[in-house]
Amino acid sequence: MADKDDKETETKEFSRKRKSSANKDYIKEMVHSYLSNFACLNPGTTIAESDLKDNNELQEHIQSITLCDIHHKSEVQMTNTELVYHIYKLDSFGVETDTLTDSGSGEELPAADVWTLPSEEFHGLWESLIYDSSLKEDTLRFAETAFEFADRGVNSTIVGCNRVILLHGPPGTGKTSLCRALAQKLSIRLGDKFPRARLLEINAHGLFSKWFSESGKIVARLFDRVREIVEDRRLLACVLVDEVESLAHARRAAVAGLEPSDSIRAVNAILAQLDRLRRHPNALVLTTSNVTGAIDVAFVDRADVKRLVGRPSARAAYEILRGCCEELMARGAVAPRERLFALRVLEGSRFAESEAAGGSLRLWAAARAAAAARLSARALRRLPLQARALHCEPRPAPPLQRFLRALQAALARHVADCDDLLRDEPV
Ligand SMILES: Nc1ncnc2c1ncn2[C@@H]1O[C@H](COP(=O)(O)OP(=O)(O)OP(=O)(O)O)[C@@H](O)[C@H]1O
Ligand SMILES: [Mg+2]
Repeated sequence: MADKDDKETETKEFSRKRKSSANKDYIKEMVHSYLSNFACLNPGTTIAESDLKDNNELQEHIQSITLCDIHHKSEVQMTNTELVYHIYKLDSFGVETDTLTDSGSGEELPAADVWTLPSEEFHGLWESLIYDSSLKEDTLRFAETAFEFADRGVNSTIVGCNRVILLHGPPGTGKTSLCRALAQKLSIRLGDKFPRARLLEINAHGLFSKWFSESGKIVARLFDRVREIVEDRRLLACVLVDEVESLAHARRAAVAGLEPSDSIRAVNAILAQLDRLRRHPNALVLTTSNVTGAIDVAFVDRADVKRLVGRPSARAAYEILRGCCEELMARGAVAPRERLFALRVLEGSRFAESEAAGGSLRLWAAARAAAAARLSARALRRLPLQARALHCEPRPAPPLQRFLRALQAALARHVADCDDLLRDEPV
């Protein structure tokens, strides 16, 4: 038998039902004995409430169990693995929008959206995101390490650490989604250190798309609210500034005299406020931009991690589309349920033709065509709806092979529609 030290560690996250008030150790024990029934599990596996039907006690307290280790690529041997558990309850309250009033025009500005984490809205988001690189794992490791440094009191003037992440790249590639998923993930993983967590999405685009009198003061008021939240040291505060290029745009417009210099003061105020957040060891700043190259240099300089998020390759497109097909089959919108192989299984068989692999190979052809057409992940996720609505009979639900042909037709249509949009029509 393997010694405890030889064991690999594996992380399990499970969400408790809101009404459950059982003690955490008791729940851990229950889940642990349930999992000992499995010889091995795949990383990323989620055991949903419906799979727990035969176990009344678990069903009473557990909503889902996810095996979410980031190191394993293949099956995890349960007997040879030491499990690390994270137990959490999802917040169902949803988003709350913070508004501020422009004292000049009296106009109400939506200034920030605030979620209590972990939120029901972001449940499963992390697992649904697929990237070609180890972007998810890297950003998670970075954030965990940055909080560890803060915990140890590492002096950030000696070892630079602003706890600022910048994701940039083309539209619809999952930048905003990853920021939200990362905030949710951290609220679960760091639950012992931070029993409370919030995500604050600052509406930078809204604040700078239009000039408001006293924009600088509005920013200051907004950050007063942010600071009220981060003052609570036992609260993890993830601050998301989406479309951060609007800051640079506002600065350029002000320099060119197109906008009043008040707007440049607002940009500087945001940068100064973000700098002040660095002093709070419980704050993490997440930023995105889809105009690579147009981001304010002063801002880029502040980011510890700057990662390009690209359009999905054929491999990523395959897994995204496979997830869509699985969902439609699970809901009976494509029937009967058939097996689609994970890409690594197809690769293992060197894409050999067989009856069992027929659907998977057709899906692989569609994924390659989608990657060649440079579809974003957002556009990919919309194809199944178009395929089912416009390229299949409304009833009965199509079988998988028919649906996959419709998916290819929907892709061809999407490409033609995009060409029409880009074509310069003579006046
Ligand atoms: N890498 C991905 N894997 C799976 N789904 C994705 C991915 N990227 C985007 N999506 C899907 O596309 C939708 C839009 O993604 P998101 O808003 O995060 O993109 P974005 O990069 O922030 O876009 P924009 O630059 O336009 O703001 C998401 O709801 C998600 O369903
Ligand atoms: Mg976005």
